[in-house]
Amino acid sequence: MSKYIPYGRQSITDSDIQSVVKVLKCDFITQGPQVRKFEKALCISTQAKYAVAVSNGTAALHLACLAAGIGKGDEVITSPLTFLASSNCVLYCGGKVVFADIDSQTANIVSSEVEKNITKKTKAIIPVHFAGQPCEVDQIRDIGKKYNLIIIEDAAHALGAKYKGSHIGSCKYSDMTTLSFHPLKHITTGEGGAILTNRKDFYEKLLMLRSHGATKDNFVNKSEGDWYYEMQMLGFNYRITDIQCALGVSQMKKLGKFVQRRRRIVELYNKAFLDNPYFDIPIEKDHSFSSYHLYPIRVKTNYVHSRKDIFADLRKNGLGVQVHYFPVYLQPYYRELGYRKGLCPIAEQYYSKTISLPLYPKMLNSDVIKVIQVCMKVFDKYRN
Ligand SMILES: Cc1ncc(COP(=O)(O)O)c(C=O)c1O
Repeated sequence: MSKYIPYGRQSITDSDIQSVVKVLKCDFITQGPQVRKFEKALCISTQAKYAVAVSNGTAALHLACLAAGIGKGDEVITSPLTFLASSNCVLYCGGKVVFADIDSQTANIVSSEVEKNITKKTKAIIPVHFAGQPCEVDQIRDIGKKYNLIIIEDAAHALGAKYKGSHIGSCKYSDMTTLSFHPLKHITTGEGGAILTNRKDFYEKLLMLRSHGATKDNFVNKSEGDWYYEMQMLGFNYRITDIQCALGVSQMKKLGKFVQRRRRIVELYNKAFLDNPYFDIPIEKDHSFSSYHLYPIRVKTNYVHSRKDIFADLRKNGLGVQVHYFPVYLQPYYRELGYRKGLCPIAEQYYSKTISLPLYPKMLNSDVIKVIQVCMKVFDKYRN
């Protein structure tokens, strides 16, 4: 049976495994020194002042929204073409999600669409750097300044990317940036996430929110003893373990290489697929350095028929392709909240045409060649 090539997967080496084993033999397997070490590595890599590592990327988004003060009656604008978490985090806080349409090529939120959707109730914007390509976050920052809004970048896809020379995660154009370390992302901690910020007030709040809203200093009740911890807000247990962070520290050493390999595979795909009649390939904007979490192609519907059949055939031929994403507001839960088909026509059209091809650092050149050959064979079969 021929090898199955998934659309993404982790790259774990012996040195990663040894780092984790070392922690398992230590006194601290959670909340020990590895958490701070991992946070420091994230700060060095992204140039952000502060990092708070948490249990997953969804928790990171939830805490960022809480730190931003999002609550009942507040509106938050985000992309419809993203993973559920970019939007659900607003609902967790009692806010209302407003979806702004995307660019038909990059699938990133369009700043003019964001501005069109601003009302007196808008409190924040959550731009998503789709597939690793940074969105026009400077323009979004300008809108944020104009209307006094908080910007939270969802950079789950974009660790290692740059926008106009600045690292994604540096928060140059935002108040906070969130990351995910799920195995399919650029580096992994199994499950894991982080919030980056340059604002001390947010940092201190995030630290408390990560662990039940409690603190071990700056008490209101000053007369208690050394045993005392104080809950000052309603937080969660969104902590990440030392075991996970040891893996994170080890993985961060390889981030540059991982991104380089992803970009090399994209180069090979781009060269092979250039000018093919069946689908458009992803573009990289002039001001962007994409870290290529995904390689989403867009089927040209006038040349081929039935994305569904093509998708099924690619899978049947050993390619673990995927579709990113079904527009969030079309999910039954969101429909129940009153969102309707037609809200973001570009996102709906993009969804109907896209397929993500395999892309991960461990892919061999022979895997890349197989993907190219299978793709061309399958697309040929479904030509109009
Ligand atoms: C854009 C985006 N945001 C947030 C998340 C949530 O991250 P996690 O799976 O670590 O909770 C994901 C996960 O895939 C994502 O793709």
